Amino acid sequence: MTRLTPEQVKNIPIDLQNYEQELIKKTEHSLLGIAKHTLNIRNDITSVLSKKTAAIIPITAGKGTILGFTDAILAILTHIGLDTYITKKKDVGGFAEAISKQADVLFAADDNHFIAVNLRTRYVSENSACTGKAYIAALDLAAKGIKSKTVFIIGYGPVGQAATIELLDRCANVVLYDIDKVKIGYAKRKFKDRVHIVHSIKEGLRYANLIVDATPVPDIISEDMIKEDTFVVAPGIPLGLTSKALKKLTSKNLIHDSLELGVATMALDATF
Ligand SMILES: NC(=O)c1ccc[n+]([C@@H]2O[C@H](COP(=O)([O-])OP(=O)(O)OC[C@H]3O[C@@H](n4cnc5c(N)ncnc54)[C@H](O)[C@@H]3O)[C@@H](O)[C@H]2O)c1
Repeated sequence: MTRLTPEQVKNIPIDLQNYEQELIKKTEHSLLGIAKHTLNIRNDITSVLSKKTAAIIPITAGKGTILGFTDAILAILTHIGLDTYITKKKDVGGFAEAISKQADVLFAADDNHFIAVNLRTRYVSENSACTGKAYIAALDLAAKGIKSKTVFIIGYGPVGQAATIELLDRCANVVLYDIDKVKIGYAKRKFKDRVHIVHSIKEGLRYANLIVDATPVPDIISEDMIKEDTFVVAPGIPLGLTSKALKKLTSKNLIHDSLELGVATMALDATF
């Protein structure tokens, strides 16, 4: 997991409306709609959400809080309709505050974990898994269905692993590449011939125009790899496209954010 910078989160609250409009153009769904599609929720949950309270607890352990992080989470959760607040106290004091104020769900992140916990059911939702699933659900909507289509996943960390499972669940064909041979070994043993392993990004792109960038590495997708029908969903931070590749792809064929899809999906995953 890459540690987010204040720069990557500071505009999330003010950009949310624009972000949502862009998502709707690409997927015909709002942020909440994509989170629902991720979790296969079909009914109207607006009134249930508005009656649930989420508490965000600032955590100072490890490298400390990221300036603007809790405000970004607050904005995303409020945007999808959850009654949300940031606890006044940090760390253990924040947990005590959230629990004593009868929060339904709490959100907390340190350097290694980012979780949402349902305080009634004790269900724990995890950001990497929700992010991997949410990006595939967004791709499913943007590509008007991924069943039987081939999707190339770059990076088999926790986000890429969740994306792989979600693609297989949605009956897509998965092509996978990771520079780490140990991780590729795990994938081979787990999925056998259900996943096609390739040895380079160039090789993977011969099979697919739908790409999932789930790596923390910049500049791994170059201009020559972008075709007219290439569509990239990129949870990876920073974005793996070179600036020329990004220009050639155009923003209409790209879904990328620093928190929104994963956090909205965690909220529903933990709440329902
Ligand atoms: N957008 C979001 O909401 C969100 C949420 C969670 C994580 N992330 C980001 O998504 C990315 C993936 O998260 P993760 O937890 O799985 O990270 P991770 O670092 O655990 O895994 C990344 C994987 O990419 C592989 N990799 C690195 N360089 C590569 C290359 N050149 N080619 C192919 N594979 C390569 C690594 O070997 C590793 O297996 C990170 O950048 C993380 O910060 C974003």
